[in-house]
Amino acid sequence: MRPLAERLELFTPSSTLALNARAKALKASGRDIVNFGIGEPDFDTPFSICEAAIRAISEGFTRYTPVDGIGELKEAICKKFKTDNGLNYNSDQIVVSNGGKHSLFNIFLALFQSGDEVIVPVPTWVSYPPMLLLAGAQPILVPTRAEDGYTLNPEKMEASLTSRTRGLIINSPSNPTGMVYGPDRLKELAELAARHDLWVISDDIYEKIIFDGVQFKNIPMLRPELIENTVIVNGFSKTYAMTGWRLGYMAGPTRVARAVAKIQSQSTSNPCSISQKAGVVALTGSQEEVTSMVASFVRRRELVLKLLADIPGLTCLRPQGAFYVFPNVSAYLGKKNGAQILTTTDELATYLLEAAGTAIVPGTGFGDDQTVRLSYAVSEADIERGLIRVKDALLKLI
Ligand SMILES: Cc1ncc(COP(=O)(O)O)c(C=O)c1O
Repeated sequence: MRPLAERLELFTPSSTLALNARAKALKASGRDIVNFGIGEPDFDTPFSICEAAIRAISEGFTRYTPVDGIGELKEAICKKFKTDNGLNYNSDQIVVSNGGKHSLFNIFLALFQSGDEVIVPVPTWVSYPPMLLLAGAQPILVPTRAEDGYTLNPEKMEASLTSRTRGLIINSPSNPTGMVYGPDRLKELAELAARHDLWVISDDIYEKIIFDGVQFKNIPMLRPELIENTVIVNGFSKTYAMTGWRLGYMAGPTRVARAVAKIQSQSTSNPCSISQKAGVVALTGSQEEVTSMVASFVRRRELVLKLLADIPGLTCLRPQGAFYVFPNVSAYLGKKNGAQILTTTDELATYLLEAAGTAIVPGTGFGDDQTVRLSYAVSEADIERGLIRVKDALLKLI
């Protein structure tokens, strides 16, 4: 049999999507599963956004659009950057893609090549390392510590730089930790990026899901001169509960936008015309539903933290954004379920799925085998039910 391409050996499938699939299969077979594995809001897309899509269909807006997105949407994105971030971009610096994930993949293909190294703070979102590897680059995984709020320590970063380092990825608020980089830390990292002429990829996808009055900042907001080195990624999935619409975008120097559009022109072409019309209304319409979704996340965060604090041996930082908690479960590693010793978070997560009917993502996929990720984009009733079951199952281990 003809072998498949060697690049498939570079990475494993997304662990979060795999867990989701297993949880869904169990649910379909009749098991009562509480799914803390899902990385998407459980809310419906606000109706005014849906109406814009319905209108687009009725009016026949169903054909190819410019590869990099319709002018109306790119203008709305520029306005968003100006209003929310004080950043000046023009339409030539924006490319709209099929989700933030697609933007990231295009950007990595445009900026990096074989032999290049890119700094990825760990715990990391599962997809950065495989996407970098597919682009031929080497992800340099630099561990962060819970004591530092899981933010990258500049000295650690500096120690990881080589003559081949080309980029740095910052994701704040973070998936999986929910932590937010403070301005001082961002300025220190910006300094290093400038000194070593690195690309900064700022993944701002959770920008709007931020709590406790914390002000969102990214590197060019703090160090405007770094705008030439920075490519920002953002999207509609998380802020507007639009995961299925597949719409995201990048903003960066014009030559990067041109390169990304060139790649997109020979791969996927434009993002869905209907989603783009919906995206215009998402950005320009009332933001009230976003505010109310964020308020729900705040209530759920409180509930999750209260219930986790009630489980002996677990420790958990208080996240300031996104919709994830990232508790340390090491107190339960090495314990036994009957004759089986649970040594890894993968084994622990499998146990919790089977014994407690709760899907929780093991830390291994994020590069940390002491922790697990729970998404609290589920109802308060499910949070309560699920975490009581998790506690019972953990306390049964000996
Ligand atoms: C950190 C991070 N970046 C980017 C994305 C991509 O989201 P989408 O492709 O749905 O816009 C996700 C989604 O899970 C994410 O968690």
